[in-house]
Amino acid sequence: MKIIDKIDKMKTHARIIKKGNKLLGFVPTMGYLHEGHLSLIRAARKQSDVVTVSIFVNPIQFGQNEDYKKYPRDMQRDEELLKNYGVDILFYPEKKDMYPADFSTYVNVEKLTDGLCGKSRVGHFRGVTTVLVKLFEIIKPDIAYFGQKDAQQAFVIKKMIKDLNMDITMKILPTVREADGLAMSSRNTYLTGTLRKDAGLLNRSLILAADLVRSGEKDAKKIIKSIKDFLLASPNIKIDYIAITDTKELRDIAVVRGETLVAVSAFVGKTRLIDNVIINEKKAQENWKYDGLLSGRQAV
Ligand code: PAJ
Repeated sequence: MKIIDKIDKMKTHARIIKKGNKLLGFVPTMGYLHEGHLSLIRAARKQSDVVTVSIFVNPIQFGQNEDYKKYPRDMQRDEELLKNYGVDILFYPEKKDMYPADFSTYVNVEKLTDGLCGKSRVGHFRGVTTVLVKLFEIIKPDIAYFGQKDAQQAFVIKKMIKDLNMDITMKILPTVREADGLAMSSRNTYLTGTLRKDAGLLNRSLILAADLVRSGEKDAKKIIKSIKDFLLASPNIKIDYIAITDTKELRDIAVVRGETLVAVSAFVGKTRLIDNVIINEKKAQENWKYDGLLSGRQAV
């Protein structure tokens, strides 16, 4: 595995790969890798000739009171994992190179970033899309891999790729979960004891929502209320938002119809967690098949 920490070196290398007519798969991450990341890397390994993984804890997507400084990092462990997974290139640029003191250009996807996480994390998606434009420009991938775990992020990136006519195929893979349903996340390391146990309730609340739809409930308000009551039974949980939206514009809907996103964000203790499920009301009986997809077209 080639380990590259300089932007110019990565660009030169990407250009050489391109000349060889190789298909370049790219998995952007912030490191502290877990099975969720590894599932993306596995798919990239299968579907492309050269796999590049980036590790960069992107400062501009963290709010002032968020966990940029204490975000978990373990480069040695990550390097080892990536080697074992047959990754070809690990790109880990430095903050000072990605954002020199005079940096002043940002990319912002409008509307889709107004609600859900965009509301409670103002500026977050602007940070995500800006760093991805930079990484895409440096690495020049043909295929880029993302997880449904961060559903709004995936929607926003998809829109950016479309709006900016980027030559990148986006693949979105299902959320990988712990045995109790908790969506894997680097931030889960903050959770211990009762908090870790209660974190599993987020996924349970989504299963509850899916079950309600399956049994014929279509009223979004009622479903939201059920999720809320279920989560608030734990004194450790503080809800950030519970949203039921369409899967095109991420607008709140009153009645569940067709493909629907149910998304939850909550603080478990001090740790903010997110989870979501996509329910197809018309195919409610099979809805778990839809967990990994934002839409049929994006299925891997
Ligand atoms: P990070 O949180 O490290 O996640 C990297 C990728 O892994 C994202 O596409 C995310 O959706 C996916 N992922 C995380 N947990 C997952 C899980 N349990 N199952 C499946 N996929 C999962 O998301 C980011 O980093 C950053 O915002 C980034 C896109 C790298 C831009 O800085």
